[in-house]
Amino acid sequence: MLNPFNPKYPIRPEFFANRQNELERFRRDLRRTADSKLPENIAVLGDWGVGKSSLAYKFMDIAAKSNVKALSSGFGVPRTVKDVGEFCYLLLYKLNQDLITSKGISSRLKDELLSWRTDQLKLGPFTMQRNEKETPKIPITQLHSGLIDMWASLHREGVEAVVLVVDDLHHLLQAVKGGILDVRSIFQDLPRYNCNYQLVITGYKGLFSEIREMAEPMGRFFNTYEIKEFNKNEAKELINTPIHAAGLDIKVTEDASDFVYEKTKGNPYFVSFFMQMLVEERKKGVIDIQFIKDRVSKIMSELEREKFEKDIGIASEFERRVLKKMMSKQEIVRLKDLCGKKDKTKVAKALNRLVEKNLVIKVNRGEYKLYHPLFKEYLSSGRFK
Ligand SMILES: Nc1ncnc2c1ncn2[C@@H]1O[C@H](COP(=O)(O)OP(=O)(O)OP(=O)(O)O)[C@@H](O)[C@H]1O
Ligand SMILES: [Mg+2]
Repeated sequence: MLNPFNPKYPIRPEFFANRQNELERFRRDLRRTADSKLPENIAVLGDWGVGKSSLAYKFMDIAAKSNVKALSSGFGVPRTVKDVGEFCYLLLYKLNQDLITSKGISSRLKDELLSWRTDQLKLGPFTMQRNEKETPKIPITQLHSGLIDMWASLHREGVEAVVLVVDDLHHLLQAVKGGILDVRSIFQDLPRYNCNYQLVITGYKGLFSEIREMAEPMGRFFNTYEIKEFNKNEAKELINTPIHAAGLDIKVTEDASDFVYEKTKGNPYFVSFFMQMLVEERKKGVIDIQFIKDRVSKIMSELEREKFEKDIGIASEFERRVLKKMMSKQEIVRLKDLCGKKDKTKVAKALNRLVEKNLVIKVNRGEYKLYHPLFKEYLSSGRFK
């Protein structure tokens, strides 16, 4: 049985649910990109686990199926990225790789792309695994010329646009503050060379707004698609669409899906986590509210092992103390309720780090909340020391 739910990976495009507005907007932006030869770059922004990567990869699928002659490529910026040079290498390497393996390209184009990579990235078709542990670095000017070189080959084949997904761009920002601005300047310059790379980046909500010098240039460069957790009806879709698309003989009753919604508050990561286990155990037949209630404690202990214990594992002793304090308060907590006069700076710093680690969400200036009620439930469970 193919279980369509797996919270560890972006959803496969064929099981994708909801986000009709964003999909429509993307179709329009892709069309504009192809028609005007000026890329409509897109920033998909949202909180942890809300479905940013899934949406970006769905865009690649839409591009492949549209009547625009578009190719696509995607990569996730690793948490370990250290500088812009590494980022440039990864981007070019992955783009070249994805273009080479795209469906339906001519053997001439494939050969050109292969020889480009041998020349420029020093990666021959028969090169053994690199010995170096470190990702190679290339200067940003080489990213610029590399993108132009590859476009020349693509253009000869009549390619109108390349959708280029850069997932988790915030990792670059955490490594080098101005890095994104450098990348932006490269992409902004490319239309002058008739290149049509449409950038789709994903990142956390505050990606551009947190650094003042960045907000304005980034806001102009990207069309922002801000996405949120699903509402009750959308959560139903999120549960039923993958089941139908995978051809499973499973029916989820209304009150059962409402129950999943209440527990998860429509966060797709958690919905997916619940559904993966429920589908695995049901296989065939009806999932009703009793079926779920009988398994909630099992699901919660899996969640603890797979998610919450890892969450806590990355928090320092002091940050854990802050989390504990937050747990005993209202959903939204003010900084001043968490500290005294003496430790205000220390607590504020810890909160910032907890936000970076996705354990706390900054709601407003000086106002915070734990990232999800299920996490709060875990912290209150007594199993968290
Ligand atoms: N539109 C959707 N349709 C079906 N499932 C979805 C959808 N969006 C997200 N999901 C499910 O929710 C899970 C989390 O989504 P995803 O990884 O895309 O979120 P994210 O915002 O990129 O998370 P992170 O902040 O960790 O990068 C995925 O594993 C996927 O199963
Ligand atoms: Mg993601």
